[in-house]
Amino acid sequence: METLELEFPTKAQDFLPLKGTDYLELYVGNARQAAHYFQTAFGFQPLAHAGLETGLHDRESYVLVQDKIRLVLTSPLTKDTAIGRHLDRHGDGVRVVALWVNDAVQAYEETTKRGAKPFLKPTVEEDEWGRVVRSGIHTYGETVHVFVERTAYDGPFLPGFKAWKPDYRPAPVGLRYVDHMVGNVGWDEMNVWTKFYAEVMGFSQLVSFDDKDISTDYTALMSKVMSNGNGRIKFPINEPAEGRKKSQVEEYLDFYDGPGIQHIAVATNDIVETVTQLKSRGVEFLQVPKTYYDDLLGRVGHIDEELNELRKLGILVDRDEEGYLLQIFTKPIMPRPTLFFEIIQRKGAKSFGKGNFKALFEAIEREQELRGTL
Ligand code: FE2
Repeated sequence: METLELEFPTKAQDFLPLKGTDYLELYVGNARQAAHYFQTAFGFQPLAHAGLETGLHDRESYVLVQDKIRLVLTSPLTKDTAIGRHLDRHGDGVRVVALWVNDAVQAYEETTKRGAKPFLKPTVEEDEWGRVVRSGIHTYGETVHVFVERTAYDGPFLPGFKAWKPDYRPAPVGLRYVDHMVGNVGWDEMNVWTKFYAEVMGFSQLVSFDDKDISTDYTALMSKVMSNGNGRIKFPINEPAEGRKKSQVEEYLDFYDGPGIQHIAVATNDIVETVTQLKSRGVEFLQVPKTYYDDLLGRVGHIDEELNELRKLGILVDRDEEGYLLQIFTKPIMPRPTLFFEIIQRKGAKSFGKGNFKALFEAIEREQELRGTL
């Protein structure tokens, strides 16, 4: 794969060891119904709950889990709350990207002394299952990173949450872990935020795409991928680029009213089975033209999967030096054209599907055309 020159160290710094994504918290208009949606459509399992019954008066949260992915869905219970203002401004979206650390105090100190804007000073929370320490910093837009140290905790989720055990439990669909999370930032801000991840969080730059890589006849964007040392956390950062029409990143920035998380990519070991399940449960995916498959094997070489199955489901394939990957993108899952999910299966490839960008962005443009936002 051809890449641009990397401006940041190719080896990440180890002052901020991250063990993985701990949880993602979404602020949503109706957490109870959103929980039902993620159970029914995506196969997430009920894990924990906090609300009036646990002594909260201003908000309610449902926590869902599927293998290593934890989603927290939070809604306000009263008017004039910070969560309510967040919802009014952004619509439903990701507020917290929580990262699992061994030492939340150290994570806070190392990042804030390198210039991170504090969000949450190190805070100890305890209940009968033990203690958790959390701290947090701001990143782009109103998105925050919370560092979670849970070495001395074996409760269902976090102190203050009770186990949530409803009878309703649709089966999982094989989602395993968060592969990467993409942020959209404003014009000329990509380098500001890649610099933030390099300097403040010790990430290195994996790869870079310019507007020649990611453009169609009409729209364009630029992207750089930042990763932590062990590669478990990967944050591609997009910014819009000049095109003849409005790009998907600009559309996102308009509707989200600023930078935020654009998509959450979740990994599966069997994308054909996972996507078959998701489709049968009503999840809608972007469709590329059937001609995409005409010369697919010529482009990517031998693959283990049945071409017909991939064509039927609309799954995309790309290859790099190390292997290949299969991927598919949902339509936005919110009323606003903002957040969506990617389902990805890696078979050796460590890249992000560059060979699919053009087909994919043309599919997004067709949706934008329908929305009147192209
Ligand atoms: Fe992605």
